[in-house]
Amino acid sequence: MNVLILGSGGREHAFTLKLLESNKINQLFVAPGNAGTHKIATNININPTDFQAVKNVVLKNDIQMVVVGPEAPLVEGIHDFFLDDIDLKNISVIGPKKDGALLEGSKDFSKQFMQKHGVPTAKYQSFTKENLEEGFAFLETLQPPFVLKADGLAAGKGVLILNSLDEAKAELEEMVANQKFGEASSTVVIEEFLKGIELSVFVLTDGKNYKILPSAKDYKRIGEGDTGLNTGGMGAISPVPFADESFLNKVEELVVKPTITGLQKDGIDYRGFIFIGLMNDNGNPSVVEYNVRMGDPETEVVLPRIESDLFDLFEGVANQTLDKKSFSVTEKTAVTVMLVSGGYPEEYEKNKEITGFESVEESIVFHAGTKIKENQVVTNGGRVMAITSFGNSIDEALEKSYNSVNKIHFDKINFRKDIGFDVV
Ligand code: AMP
Ligand code: GLY
Repeated sequence: MNVLILGSGGREHAFTLKLLESNKINQLFVAPGNAGTHKIATNININPTDFQAVKNVVLKNDIQMVVVGPEAPLVEGIHDFFLDDIDLKNISVIGPKKDGALLEGSKDFSKQFMQKHGVPTAKYQSFTKENLEEGFAFLETLQPPFVLKADGLAAGKGVLILNSLDEAKAELEEMVANQKFGEASSTVVIEEFLKGIELSVFVLTDGKNYKILPSAKDYKRIGEGDTGLNTGGMGAISPVPFADESFLNKVEELVVKPTITGLQKDGIDYRGFIFIGLMNDNGNPSVVEYNVRMGDPETEVVLPRIESDLFDLFEGVANQTLDKKSFSVTEKTAVTVMLVSGGYPEEYEKNKEITGFESVEESIVFHAGTKIKENQVVTNGGRVMAITSFGNSIDEALEKSYNSVNKIHFDKINFRKDIGFDVV
């Protein structure tokens, strides 16, 4: 079978490498891909949210399955587009339809969903400019810090955590009345601040059955000791030491099962990944957010730990036979360290030549923001490469990744030297 992966990050390089292990795959295409996917599959330079262009690629290359990496095409309805098109309706799409993608596309929807189906989450209310005064009054009932979330997608920037009540009121007004995050913040969710330590649990579901994938923790801040600006993620570890069996059992019973049955009760036929962002508060899970895709860089530690054939699992998702599929995970620890362009997550330069990565042996080099220019691999984004290693412990895996990192060079390279600092 020919398969198309949509996206261009480390996540999509990890999907590519994992799917190539399957002997059921004939040709693998990635759109638009990066220099890493170029080496092992066929890149096609189209935008994943240009559905007509995706259609042309699918028909021209006899593609039978499309794996959607990022959230934007899902929230914009790529799966519905396929189902509504006579030429595409029998092609499998791994990723939810628009109704399911609302779990990520609208914070208000996802909070309502959690409340309705009894999934533990922070107390909240939603506001628009019509009831701004009520928003101020709600803020007054809460203790700091105050958590304000733009309802819609805001490129990962739509969550504000503020210490002062006055600042929170001012920001709320900026968001709903002055469209601080555009249309995405015309509705704002205000919620209680959750204490605890954060981790992510990933679920693959065919709408009826599910597999719980390895859990992971990512390191979101640019600076060591979790300081400085938020990024897409500077590194990740899997498994998460503090997510022991008893905690993960609670996650399954209290979060995963009600989520899957809730989707069914609401008539949402969900086929794809659910990324559950959780707070572990003294052993009790509370959901911070759902995403309708895999995380990046979490994928770069989660997929390498899966021993089963990922394509076979995807067929199970498409045919609603996931319960018949075997699924196993290595007990080894995986870590990843993200190499980023100096300046990221603010302004940075691109087109820096990257050297040394081909001599890395003890780690997997996942490309993210890379491309080929004049036969050289150069930087093409803020997050450039994710360096994943296995070990019997986090320390052992980290030592390998940092050894490998030292072999890789580009101008103004930056990375965190303390991935896993809080758990080892
Ligand atoms: P989200 O986009 O909902 O994941 O929010 C971004 C980040 O803000 C999360 O990963 C958390 O670190 C933090 N966050 C979001 N909601 C809360 C909350 N209710 N309490 C504490 N931290 C939160
Ligand atoms: N690493 C966080 C995310 O993918 O949203």
